[in-house]
Amino acid sequence: MLDDVLEVLACPHCGAGLQRHGSGLRCPAGHAFDIARQGYVSLLPGRTGGDTAEMVAARADFLRAGHYAPIADAVADALAEVTGCVVDVGAGTGHYLTRVLERSPQRTGLALDVSKYACRRAAKAHPRAGAAVADAWQGLPVRSAAASAVLNVFAPRNAAEMHRVLRPGGLLVVVTPNADHLAGLVADLGLVTVDGRKQQRLDAQLADRFRLVDRRDREFGLSLDPAEAEAVVAMGPSAWHATPEALRERIARLPAPVATAASVAVATYERV
Ligand SMILES: C[S@@+](CC[C@H](N)C(=O)[O-])C[C@H]1O[C@@H](n2cnc3c(N)ncnc32)[C@H](O)[C@@H]1O
Ligand SMILES: [Zn+2]
Repeated sequence: MLDDVLEVLACPHCGAGLQRHGSGLRCPAGHAFDIARQGYVSLLPGRTGGDTAEMVAARADFLRAGHYAPIADAVADALAEVTGCVVDVGAGTGHYLTRVLERSPQRTGLALDVSKYACRRAAKAHPRAGAAVADAWQGLPVRSAAASAVLNVFAPRNAAEMHRVLRPGGLLVVVTPNADHLAGLVADLGLVTVDGRKQQRLDAQLADRFRLVDRRDREFGLSLDPAEAEAVVAMGPSAWHATPEALRERIARLPAPVATAASVAVATYERV
């Protein structure tokens, strides 16, 4: 855990700052947290959840292949002027945070995810990034107004907490799937489509605390091998209520490579 990133962390029990203590971290009241061998700190002691090792591995492979590069570019473009700490909530492997950090040496990053498997990867994703296991719904283990920007990419949104950790004028970038995201694949596989009113819901969630600065749709074709098609379904918003084996079997019946299209909204908000 880097000192620059350590500075923005807060004790999940009492909200105080954290300092190094032995091989872990500790707050002045004595709440103590281990730093795992893989480099992330667990600020959700004793519990973990979120994505499994398999889900995280599938997403890592998919993202590494560059299929979602247009989304990563849009996220990094949205934060062009930002310096300071960027907090990624529900960061997964740290893919998007990494792209943002690569754009400027004046940035550090904190990846937060409830999955320890995600944090293992995020901790190693970039030399200027740290990672912590945390549950977005229980409050973010980040000091108030410590973040210059917050990323939220296909992940749970706790508007009050994202607002609290951002400095005034700080930017929030939210990526959400549009109703026609992966539409062809969703139809072919008999999956449930995403709620088409998601944007309105998002606006309502954020309305009191954020001002919309920019929103743009990113739409692009995808040509996927069967494993990638499976990964994109597993990481997407469509509900799949059968076993992974059944999904794999249905994908195997599609003509390869599987052709579909991504459609997402990249929205940038300013903290008010
Ligand atoms: C669809 S993935 C997106 C990951 C990453 N942003 C990306 O796009 O590659 C959603 C992520 O949110 C995490 N997650 C789910 N519930 C969470 C919670 N309550 N707090 C923090 N992270 C959570 C999952 O473990 C998973 O890594
Ligand atoms: Zn404490």
